[in-house]
Amino acid sequence: MIDPGTLATPHQRARAADLLAPEEQRRWRRYRFARDRDLFLATRLLVRSVLANYTGVEARALRFSSNAHGKPSLVEGHSEVDVRFNLSNTRGLVVCAATMGREVGVDVEDIQEVPGLGAEYYLAPPELAELRAGSLADRRAEFYTFWTLKESFIKARGEGMSIGLSSFAVGIRPPRLLEYRDGAFHRSRWRLFAFAPTTHALALCIESREGERIEIVSRRTSAQELLDALRTCR
Ligand SMILES: CC(C)(COP(=O)(O)OP(=O)(O)OC[C@H]1O[C@@H](n2cnc3c(N)ncnc32)[C@H](O)[C@@H]1OP(=O)(O)O)[C@@H](O)C(=O)NCCC(=O)NCCS
Repeated sequence: MIDPGTLATPHQRARAADLLAPEEQRRWRRYRFARDRDLFLATRLLVRSVLANYTGVEARALRFSSNAHGKPSLVEGHSEVDVRFNLSNTRGLVVCAATMGREVGVDVEDIQEVPGLGAEYYLAPPELAELRAGSLADRRAEFYTFWTLKESFIKARGEGMSIGLSSFAVGIRPPRLLEYRDGAFHRSRWRLFAFAPTTHALALCIESREGERIEIVSRRTSAQELLDALRTCR
């Protein structure tokens, strides 16, 4: 993960922009606001650095495609290792989660943001009950824990909002899938994790086998560190 604010100088931006494929360049230039341009660029710098590290392929040479719902993946043939990843970004934080041979979804939200609609709109009845059973002082942060866990599940599945927010429910104490109305996918197949870095809520959903131990390694870095590492890889 990185703070997009660490991508701050024209030199850093130029070096990060140099990694972009033509389509990414076009998308980058279309953003109206500098803050959104920088968030996009910081996200590309992070994902290309992380995946270059896993695959051994030069960051600039990585090519991406996406499924019908927009979930991005590496095009096949980059390396022997089956690296999957997912991205999320918000004000102040960009996260890239990478796994080997299993689906992953990640979501991060700034808990200082005021949600557009009430909790009833986003959460299923068991989630609302657990939220309301918690303390009032923690309600905003806990709401975003539900939100990011739900979103991470949706993103791991890769089917976008077609899944429907009320078609499944999660719990936060501990993070887990409670109900899922799709017989084809047993809930033990999806493991949920929640973190609270700084003023953000961050959640991960990882595909797994029942009882399997999952080790999560997290690293916070900066744009300059990523750019320096690219230089030493050349
Ligand atoms: C688009 C969506 C995948 C996430 O959107 P988001 O939360 O606004 O944005 P995030 O920063 O978390 O994620 C965006 C990234 O997810 C990835 N992504 C896009 N579509 C995806 C999909 N179908 N599945 C998984 N990942 C996807 C992309 O990498 C994208 O970034 P990029 O376009 O810069 O490459 C989708 O789930 C959505 O529209 N959510 C609506 C938000 C909402 O109401 N959530 C309610 C939660 S209770």
